[in-house]
Amino acid sequence: MHQQTLPPLTPIISNWIKELIKKPELLETAIEEYGSPINIHNTLPFRENYKLYQEVFDEYGLDNLIFFARKANKCRNLVLEAKTLGMGIDTASYRELKEALESDLDCEKLVVTAAIKERKLIELAIQNGVLIILDNEDECKLTQQIAEEFNIKAQIGLRISGFNYRGSKLYSRFGFDIDGVFDFIAENFGKQKAFNSLKYQGLHFHLNGYSTEQRGAACLQSFELAKQLKTNGFETHFLDIGGGFLMNYLSDKDEWESFKETLQLAVKQKVAPITFQNDGLGYQIINNELHGELKTYPYFNEKPKQFFLREILNYKNGDSKTVADLAKQLKIQIRMEPGRSMLDQVGFTMAKVVFRKRDSQNNWLVGLEMNFTQMHSSSADFLLDPIVLNKEPQKNKEKCEVFFTGAYCLERDILLKRKISLDQLPQIGDLVIFPNTAGYMIHFFESEAHLFNLAANIWSQVEGYTLSKFINDDELSYPTVAV
Ligand SMILES: Cc1ncc(COP(=O)(O)O)c(C=O)c1O
Repeated sequence: MHQQTLPPLTPIISNWIKELIKKPELLETAIEEYGSPINIHNTLPFRENYKLYQEVFDEYGLDNLIFFARKANKCRNLVLEAKTLGMGIDTASYRELKEALESDLDCEKLVVTAAIKERKLIELAIQNGVLIILDNEDECKLTQQIAEEFNIKAQIGLRISGFNYRGSKLYSRFGFDIDGVFDFIAENFGKQKAFNSLKYQGLHFHLNGYSTEQRGAACLQSFELAKQLKTNGFETHFLDIGGGFLMNYLSDKDEWESFKETLQLAVKQKVAPITFQNDGLGYQIINNELHGELKTYPYFNEKPKQFFLREILNYKNGDSKTVADLAKQLKIQIRMEPGRSMLDQVGFTMAKVVFRKRDSQNNWLVGLEMNFTQMHSSSADFLLDPIVLNKEPQKNKEKCEVFFTGAYCLERDILLKRKISLDQLPQIGDLVIFPNTAGYMIHFFESEAHLFNLAANIWSQVEGYTLSKFINDDELSYPTVAV
């Protein structure tokens, strides 16, 4: 079998992280104080990401409202930061809504999009005049019932799905089908109708995947629905296009292409494995042929964030009118709920090396004080090279290839499935940094199995890019607003 060098995947790294890496003693102190692993965050990129989106809307002269989808990261400081920036928060649970209200966020800047809306969540939203995005008829019934009990009109939007795209419907388990929702509204909403305590305000969708064309098509179909509704007396004030705005993690397209090629060759056993137990990350061999596709996030892509938004706004209908033109013409505010992309460069995860050993297949395994729930991608792997801070750089450096392993009793607790090439074997106590983990990678799947503590979340204070000290997110308090 042909032996190849491992294809690198070099992450994009923001200046505040580069600065911090130059101060290993500070990182050592942080890990001593808070334990391993630790998530270190910074608000500066969050502000910059918000600005990037805001600039696009300004350039198009579009009425807009951007909500941060908090489910992507639980830190309290992000709620406070969103408030400072004047942005909204998309809340997906009772506690997310309660904390946003406690932090005194304006109710106009809040939205409830929870997939499951229990009674107390709906009660809290109605009592505080917060918009609820309803997903199905049962939710409408419960919301109507609670609104009647409180004698308050519930502010609601409807989530739509099943958009027609290139001859077929886009499936989603969420939302009302676009083809039936007009009749549903016309029959049930308005005076003397079943849902007369629900005040219809607008439309919402959130699409799976990363197609700007599908989102553009969904906008156009939503506008058509809004026009139809208007003729029946229902004014659509906003169209919320959800989240899913791409972010780019990697610095080099060639590396990305070369990684994909080498992975396929490895699965075909033409070159040595580059993943743990030759995991194909979606590729597999069936009857001697390669099948499947890479089932990871598109970590390298060329149209992240503001470019992604622009493509949606530039999408045209048959009369060459763009989504942006139509939004203005119909006086519909465009809303969005980015989670991951708002967190681009906002945080990294750092863990301590505990052991090194050779397994029976002669692989180097480097054990970290951390487990796979503390950095876990919902896709097949997190494809960014980590950075190892060697306490004592060796004089005669010898390159080595390692897998990083975690603390759970599961064979599968391999922190990155990719084999990683390093300049030298890490020493016990060395620190390993996993860049750009703030969006979904650290909180979405974390667990306290084995009674391990959850990782601490700390914030580096930055004036310009000069670092002073860390703040523990748990110790941040919201302004005391009674809810
Ligand atoms: C309704 C809704 N809005 C916003 C988001 C945020 O998406 P992203 O973090 O990909 O931007 C999600 C993610 O699942 C969602 O379900």
